Amino acid sequence: MNFELTEEQIMIRDTAREFAQTEIAPSAVERDLKGEFPTEIVKKLAELGFMGMMVSPDYDGAGMDTVSYALAMMEISKVDASVGVIMSVNNSLVCFGLEKYGSDFIKENFLKPLARGEKLGAFALSEPEAGSDATQQQTLAVKDGDHWVLNGTKNWITNGQSADYYIVMAQTDREKRHKGITAFIVEKGTEGFTHGVKEDKLGIRSSDTCSLNFTNCRVPEENIIWEVGKGFNFAMNTLNGGRYGIASQAVGIAMASLDASIKYSKERKAFGTEIANHQAIQFKIADMAMNTEAAKLLTLQAAALKDAGQPYIKEAAMAKLYSSEVAVKNALEAIQIHGGYGYVREYLVERYLRDAKITEIYEGTSEIQRIVISRALLRD
Ligand code: CAA
Repeated sequence: MNFELTEEQIMIRDTAREFAQTEIAPSAVERDLKGEFPTEIVKKLAELGFMGMMVSPDYDGAGMDTVSYALAMMEISKVDASVGVIMSVNNSLVCFGLEKYGSDFIKENFLKPLARGEKLGAFALSEPEAGSDATQQQTLAVKDGDHWVLNGTKNWITNGQSADYYIVMAQTDREKRHKGITAFIVEKGTEGFTHGVKEDKLGIRSSDTCSLNFTNCRVPEENIIWEVGKGFNFAMNTLNGGRYGIASQAVGIAMASLDASIKYSKERKAFGTEIANHQAIQFKIADMAMNTEAAKLLTLQAAALKDAGQPYIKEAAMAKLYSSEVAVKNALEAIQIHGGYGYVREYLVERYLRDAKITEIYEGTSEIQRIVISRALLRD
């Protein structure tokens, strides 16, 4: 077993680290406060090839491996988890699925601009009445000549206002449960397609999340991904891929909490010495470091398995489940170590907790990950 990164992986990680420090960190606090989308940062990420990292150069992507993607996601999310999720959705939930299942038409017209980062993507599966129970889609698509007419509502859509292309799952045959769901690409500006107001979220506030509404929205037949009735399988396979993205985001937040705690505990004095000299603090830091490392290894394992063409569904679910729980735990410990200062905005750790919580919810809750893991084990 080889735990060493290649020169290229180290270079990509270091580029992401440097970019995060110089370009993302200076505006992170203000964007969080104002809930402001990082438009200029996303443009610069595109110039680095970070919006289509794993897409083949044949489709204008950067052709990097999944381990490099995970490392870059960790570094970006360590500084700003909002930027992390914007990047993750475009890379893993949108580009990945389009490259794997899209027609030549879709790859040429949608994947290429997404991979270049000129256009932004969103993934619309969840609905007001269908979150974890994703087969219960109510959005309906009815065929009309060479178009399909969509009616319904999606919600909790990351990049919901800023995206240009939306992958939308809809029922095309209610009788067939999940085998009656189809995936479509809907372009921003299509008649009958509007979005709701930006949600006022607890965390990842600088990413935009909103609902989408479809009222007699006509989508051309050629915008169907894979084929009619394959939309649920498409969504599940895409989410399997997305989960190491969110796992990496969570590892990034856990790393940030750890670093902030180490720094603060060497500065803050109590009972006549720096608090780092107290065993109560030392034990917390040891546990935070151990858990972060374990989360990182699980995440890189899932990414490496994917790169090796090996099964990775169970491992990606484990990575997402474990890393998200570590992100929350580390953020809570970081606040405890900072005491009252951890509870106010002057220090960054309160944001880490607000940002961490969503990683236990989106792209499959912790409970869904336990279903995916246990099914894989019991079926083997
Ligand atoms: N990978 C691949 N295929 C899978 C799968 C997986 N992990 N899980 C289920 N499937 C397939 C099954 O093989 C089956 O296909 P076939 O009939 O062709 O064999 C089909 O899906 C239906 O399977 P089940 O009958 O077992 O489905 P279920 O209803 O019992 O459970 C579930 C499925 C795993 C609970 C699923 O509904 C699920 O993953 N729910 C969570 C949805 C989710 O993650 N939502 C996140 C929203 S996206 C988001 O957050 C985006 C964002 O903006 C950040």
